[in-house]
Amino acid sequence: MKIGIIGSGYVGLVTGACFAHLGNQVICVDNNLEKITLLKKGKPPIYEPGLEEMLQENIKRKRLFFASRIEQAVKNAEVLFICVNTPPKENGEADLSYVENVSREIARNLKEYRLIVEKSTVPVQTGEWIHKTIKLIQPRESLFDVASNPEFLREGSAIHDFLNPDRIILGVSSARAGKLLRQLYASFSAPLVVTDIKSAEIIKHASNSFLATKIAFINVVSRICDATGADIENVAYGMGLDPRIGPGFLKAGIGFGGFCFPKDLAAFERMAEKAGVPFGILREVLNSNEEQKKYFIQKVSNALWNLRNKTIGVLGLSFKPNTDDMRFAPSIDIIQGLQREEALIQAYDPQAMPKCKTIFKKVKYAKDAYQAAEHTDALAVLTEWDEFKKLDLKRIKKLMRNPILFDGRNIFDPAEARKLGFHYYAMGRKLRRTR
Ligand code: UDX
Ligand code: UDX
Repeated sequence: MKIGIIGSGYVGLVTGACFAHLGNQVICVDNNLEKITLLKKGKPPIYEPGLEEMLQENIKRKRLFFASRIEQAVKNAEVLFICVNTPPKENGEADLSYVENVSREIARNLKEYRLIVEKSTVPVQTGEWIHKTIKLIQPRESLFDVASNPEFLREGSAIHDFLNPDRIILGVSSARAGKLLRQLYASFSAPLVVTDIKSAEIIKHASNSFLATKIAFINVVSRICDATGADIENVAYGMGLDPRIGPGFLKAGIGFGGFCFPKDLAAFERMAEKAGVPFGILREVLNSNEEQKKYFIQKVSNALWNLRNKTIGVLGLSFKPNTDDMRFAPSIDIIQGLQREEALIQAYDPQAMPKCKTIFKKVKYAKDAYQAAEHTDALAVLTEWDEFKKLDLKRIKKLMRNPILFDGRNIFDPAEARKLGFHYYAMGRKLRRTR
């Protein structure tokens, strides 16, 4: 099938590359010319495991092309996926102006039937607005359909998630649209949920909001464990054995970040409010996520007494491992909080440092974790990269001024760390893991 991707970012690129990998002809469009130039050379402007190889393979096999104008996608592809970003407005609502611009541009170039599919996370009724916008410019409704096909990709495992979805959600308003999308996903074995557009839009927002709520819940419980001497890993393990709860997304830490949870929750809450349904739980989830970061900063400040001119080594900057994405990363608020108390920060992250350098000028960047630990008064783990779990803690301790370790993602074993002589602080940790 001939596919057009409009907006070649974290989601659009993975979607385009995977559809090409599955044998489709794909044209990826982006209005950022720099990105397109890079992509034409098979160089992804983002880090996502396996993406570079998949791009190069499919460019070579002439199944994947890049362009900067939407009309090139409309001309050559029957199914057009809208994957442009939907950033949060001041009031938390999703800014859909890019979605609207793209819809207009598609309408202006419509000559024959096209299926326009919203893949970006959008509030319910966006599909309706896309339809209205296109119809204003191109009144012949036989020339297009709008559908919703939300993505559930996790950064760092996006290719795996695309090729092995738990479910495929298709929100359609015509038999023709349903048939086309079923054909496109025919090779997948995952359950196919074919519903209306509004339900598909809400499935996405509600799923993300529920996952973030689960994380916020376990984070508050981790603070209770700290206060009472219980152990969060054992609590989460005991909870997760209940299949109604499940072990996933019960990892306590310094809070959730990324370009989805924070903005999708805010957008969902605003949309509910506009629909006359107050969604206070989500406001509380967002507030408690902010509290979690402040709690971590307080932990550091309590342990070090004064932070002024103290050097703190930071391991991990990206919002989660296996990505270079710094959007809404908890490390941003935490480093800002520590710098406000005049601490000196030296940091290392395997992938995110180039992006972080555009945010923090006053951070010293290290070539590896050991250099980040050199002459520090304390070390803080903010992202649970695998390589940090394998660090030689004896060597780390020798490099530091003081053996004070703040484990924001609970990657080390408290007993082991303490046996090595560290003053070890984590998020609700007390004992050795039970399994
Ligand atoms: C985006 C949405 O923000 C997210 O809500 C949705 O779930 C998936 O798509 P992401 O891919 O992470 O997420 O956004 P981003 O990496 O910013 O990619 C968007 C791309 O669209 C950028 O490359 C941007 O240059 C491009 N774009 C934006 C256009 O090509 N045209 C526009 O008008 C606006
Ligand atoms: C999320 C959803 O998982 C995905 O389905 C949706 O399509 C996009 O948003 P993503 O934001 O890429 O994916 O990463 P995810 O793995 O969900 O982590 C989000 C944040 O939650 C990260 O900051 C991570 O550190 C945090 N997290 C996750 C926890 O703190 N604890 C957990 O147990 C899981």
